[in-house]
Amino acid sequence: MSIVAQERLIRPARNIYGSLRLPGDKSISHRYAMLGAFAEGVSRFTNFSTGADCASTLACMESLGAKISRPEDGAPQKDSIEITGVAGRVTPPDHPLDCGNSGSTMRMISGLLAAQQGRFTLIGDASLSRRPMERIRKPLEAMRARLTLTEGHAPLTIEGAPLKAIDYTTPVPSAQVKTCILLAGLQAEGTTTVHEAVRTRDHSELALRAFGARLTRTADSVSISGLQSRTEPPALHAIEAALPGDLSSAAFFLCAAAIFPGSNLVLDSVGLNPTRAALLDVLTMLGARISVLNLEERHAELVGAVRISALEDGLGSTAITGAVSAQLIDELPVLAAIGPFTGGGIRIRDAKELRIKESDRIALVAKNLRAMGAEVEEFEDGLDVPGGQTLHGAQIDAGGDHRIAMAFSVAALRAEGETLIHGAESAAISFPEFFDLLDSIAER
Ligand code: S3P
Repeated sequence: MSIVAQERLIRPARNIYGSLRLPGDKSISHRYAMLGAFAEGVSRFTNFSTGADCASTLACMESLGAKISRPEDGAPQKDSIEITGVAGRVTPPDHPLDCGNSGSTMRMISGLLAAQQGRFTLIGDASLSRRPMERIRKPLEAMRARLTLTEGHAPLTIEGAPLKAIDYTTPVPSAQVKTCILLAGLQAEGTTTVHEAVRTRDHSELALRAFGARLTRTADSVSISGLQSRTEPPALHAIEAALPGDLSSAAFFLCAAAIFPGSNLVLDSVGLNPTRAALLDVLTMLGARISVLNLEERHAELVGAVRISALEDGLGSTAITGAVSAQLIDELPVLAAIGPFTGGGIRIRDAKELRIKESDRIALVAKNLRAMGAEVEEFEDGLDVPGGQTLHGAQIDAGGDHRIAMAFSVAALRAEGETLIHGAESAAISFPEFFDLLDSIAER
């Protein structure tokens, strides 16, 4: 897929107002796509993520033998897909699997392939090829698969093997690594257990159960039962699901609403899984008024509408540290970007992982805040963004990172003067509709 570089001009807004329904959750879409493609039967999903990352997962699973039917161009339901699974046995493709920009695709599919017969090569774009893959090599090799990395990174090659179960403690909190091990564990002999010091998002646990896998949990571990027999593949069945809106995409609009006193925004059918929803607590602590309506459960995922309004008194201050930093990892760039508009500032620590995401998000947030005239202090594992600052419009470098492009589009709404986002096309990695939807709720 060729991507054309784009710039976006963001003009300041007077207020944020309206109601929106957001495209499907990226994390859940990856998992449903992989499991639907691996299961037996036909899975059907509506409100599937429209982002390029999930398209990478679909394309990889298609190359491995699953049948994917996407809606025709111009069809009314652009986000409905149907997946016919491979019933537990993939076909090794004669070409490398291209994971694009998506760490989730590369790390999670590796777990699925570790137990399959054949040799698989996984590649990614320049950003993904810099991200650490040693973290999946260690557990998968302990289970007896063979992984060859390129200096710790992609391209990587997996030689699948009959796996044995392991008991593994993840050294850094990572839902992708946990998922990788669980997907391998599903196909291993015995029961595989993953211990984690901080409970990371549990979409894989919920999705695996929905597709028929057997899992048990304790406060700090999850165990998955492996093969019933050496000769039979794991028996997962197809499901149908309407995916919840993505809370990490919602974060940009929630943060935008939080910095405009008098705002009023409703987001319908958003995923509110408690392992993902720390943002709502942080915004509430900062002083935004948030209510959650129409709660329901879909395949054990909590879904509801979120209403946010900001009071005339403005926002206070907050410190995000420890386990909360890991749980909020994708929302930290936008929280830091709105820091100058709070009263007392935002302090972020214990977020070293931010440096090895799609970009070095600590460095890029600091650089772009400074470009807008803000004072900010950078730390190895976080940032201090003082409050009570006035920002001016500037040239923003998204650094090829979707969350940086979107975070600074939000900050630009409250800046004085216009802001030009360079690399705006990267928003399409998770949220192609972002700029149109932002325009639709920004009153000017
Ligand atoms: C994700 C886990 C997180 C997150 C990423 C999506 C997932 O990554 O940053 O956007 O869907 O499991 P890590 O597992 O590397 O923390």
